[in-house]
Amino acid sequence: MPRRSDAPLSDSWRNHSAWIGLSRRVQERAPAGLKHSHSGIRGKKRTLYLNVDILFLPLSYASSLHPNLRHHHGAAHRQTHTMATTSTILVISSFVIAFTTWLYLRLIPVPLPDGIPYDPTSTSRPFGDGSTIKSTGRLTREPSAALFALCRQLGSPIVQFLLTSLPGTTPTLVLDDPREVEDILLRRNREFDRSYLTVHLFQQILPAATLAQVTTPKLKAQKRGWSDVMHPDFLRRVVAPNLQTAGVELVELWKARMEKLEDGEGAFEVLNDFYSTALDAIWVAVLGKKIGVLRHEITKVRGEGETDGETAKLVELVRFAVEEGSAIVNAGVGSLWPALTFFLMSFKPSYRRFRSVGTEEVGKIMRAACERFHRLSDAGESSAGDGEEHDTCAMDFVLRREIMTAKKEGKPAPDPTRNPAMLDELWLMLLAGHDSTASTLAWFVKFMGLHPRAQANLRQAVLAAFEGTKFATSSEILEVDIPLLDATIEETVRCSATAAITTRRALVDTQVLGRHIPKGTNVILNLRIDRQPFEIEESQRSETCQAAQTKRPRGGIEGPSGRDLDLFEPRRWLTHDATTGKEVFDAYALPNLTFGGGFRGCFGKRLAMLELRIIVTTLMLNFEFIPLPTEMAGLEAEDRVCQVEGAIGAGKVDFILSAPCQNDII
Ligand code: HEM
Repeated sequence: MPRRSDAPLSDSWRNHSAWIGLSRRVQERAPAGLKHSHSGIRGKKRTLYLNVDILFLPLSYASSLHPNLRHHHGAAHRQTHTMATTSTILVISSFVIAFTTWLYLRLIPVPLPDGIPYDPTSTSRPFGDGSTIKSTGRLTREPSAALFALCRQLGSPIVQFLLTSLPGTTPTLVLDDPREVEDILLRRNREFDRSYLTVHLFQQILPAATLAQVTTPKLKAQKRGWSDVMHPDFLRRVVAPNLQTAGVELVELWKARMEKLEDGEGAFEVLNDFYSTALDAIWVAVLGKKIGVLRHEITKVRGEGETDGETAKLVELVRFAVEEGSAIVNAGVGSLWPALTFFLMSFKPSYRRFRSVGTEEVGKIMRAACERFHRLSDAGESSAGDGEEHDTCAMDFVLRREIMTAKKEGKPAPDPTRNPAMLDELWLMLLAGHDSTASTLAWFVKFMGLHPRAQANLRQAVLAAFEGTKFATSSEILEVDIPLLDATIEETVRCSATAAITTRRALVDTQVLGRHIPKGTNVILNLRIDRQPFEIEESQRSETCQAAQTKRPRGGIEGPSGRDLDLFEPRRWLTHDATTGKEVFDAYALPNLTFGGGFRGCFGKRLAMLELRIIVTTLMLNFEFIPLPTEMAGLEAEDRVCQVEGAIGAGKVDFILSAPCQNDII
């Protein structure tokens, strides 16, 4: 598995050697030069500029009014006019030079004085580590890996990430230690909250969504309103059957694709099919209305003409909106100046179209749902209970509760289509829940092709559990206990590292690994667990981190499960029950970081895991993935903000080879 992209870093150091020479010289003169240019702008030269205007402008105005004066003073006028122009140019040039120098010097970062390691060469070039990460990212398409390569390069699990020293710049650290990352996410919520690094990325497109907010009482109330839609009962009853339908349609689509292949065998791209599956699944889970992206694809592949005009239009609109939404956030992630990037993007017609599609399409669905609940409530259908049997999706759940509560309290029913928090949260779920699961599923297929033994074991376990069935129902899939299925999904989630990063901000002065962390500092946390962690003295860890380790009898990452972390090995998640001796799944074999954690952890984790389980089982019952030719079997990834968060890293997994399935129905 793991995709190590630190190697090209050294190339980018070389690329920067010219910059280093230049910026070093500038920095040696920095303090004096800076003061000098400041006094130039604010003092003398500014006065001169005013003098020029005050003295010369009235004179030229008077000349233009009186021909005599113009005649007598013609030569003098021309001279003074030239002088004025020259002085103005001089003043403006001085200002521009002074400002550029100031800006240039401010683009060079200044490290924290607290002894946390940093790359000294970054203190002598604009955008410090940022420029290196960006150029490495261009080569590898995985800047997130380059970020953590900094820790390896400096030999420390915690290092400074130097960007600029512009006013308002917040010191930023990078933390690469799974146990400590888990500790911050799960147990130190009073000391660390969502960082503005993430908040600003999402504020541009979905300002009222949870992900675009730091934790406040208002945010807590907003999250409470949604919390029950991820309740296991709700997911099983309302969401799981739709996920199963998406799985069945995916099988139908691939069979149609295989019929087009010579001898029913060959490679075809699957990532887009997983996008379609995930989009169908999340749309119906969140909004209740089926859009039929997979059906649309099946019709196209079978050459049965187009789906009806209305469906095709909706599919096109929805696809556009989710792709544009992700593209906007991705542009911010790839930028050294996200605020400027977003500002420029907001003038693009596609950006405005994204906003209007979001509001209009989702608004229409919301209005229809509201009318339905009003009708039900007027008919007294839900007065006995809460009427939850009428919910078809997450949106229904929240809308119904709002309408019913208002009715019970005798208040006028709210109009949720005018509630930006509602609209933005729905869109956040659509975006967050689409790329992320699609990408993880695509990695699953790739890992299966690369590890035939692991695949054979999994298939055997799944076939044994669902003997003779091609399409188990969602409740059958959720009820059955197949430890190896859980283990393979967990290992896929770990190795695909779909979300490679999340961020936190220190709410108070605190400590991490014995280092002082000033209040306000951003910490970029590595969510990947794909290599041996740094050796760290236990005494340097926080008390909560030390205590948690004592509750991991198998030693967690320091035990047998933590061996060979660069290999795809589902069995690391299995152990034997002490009393029965049966093989069981151990969810705590390693820290589970891919979904972040704690109060600001992934809201959709349960839904995502449910979807993975249903789709993986359905695929295992119907296909075998045979190894890809070498040129298609690479594990390169491309960083994008999938889905979520500063959560980064969508897989670029484009092909499968579909074998003539031994257990195919046909
Ligand atoms: C494999 C699939 C997914 C992965 C890997 C993933 C990963 C993440 C990560 C890493 C975070 C940030 C957590 C943190 O900072 O501690 C996050 C947040 C979030 N995710 Fe997911 N996610 C996935 C699927 C989903 C789905 C299906 C949904 C929607 C229903 C969803 C909705 C959200 C939301 C709303 C947040 C923001 C929570 C907050 O700010 O309080 N995610 N996700």
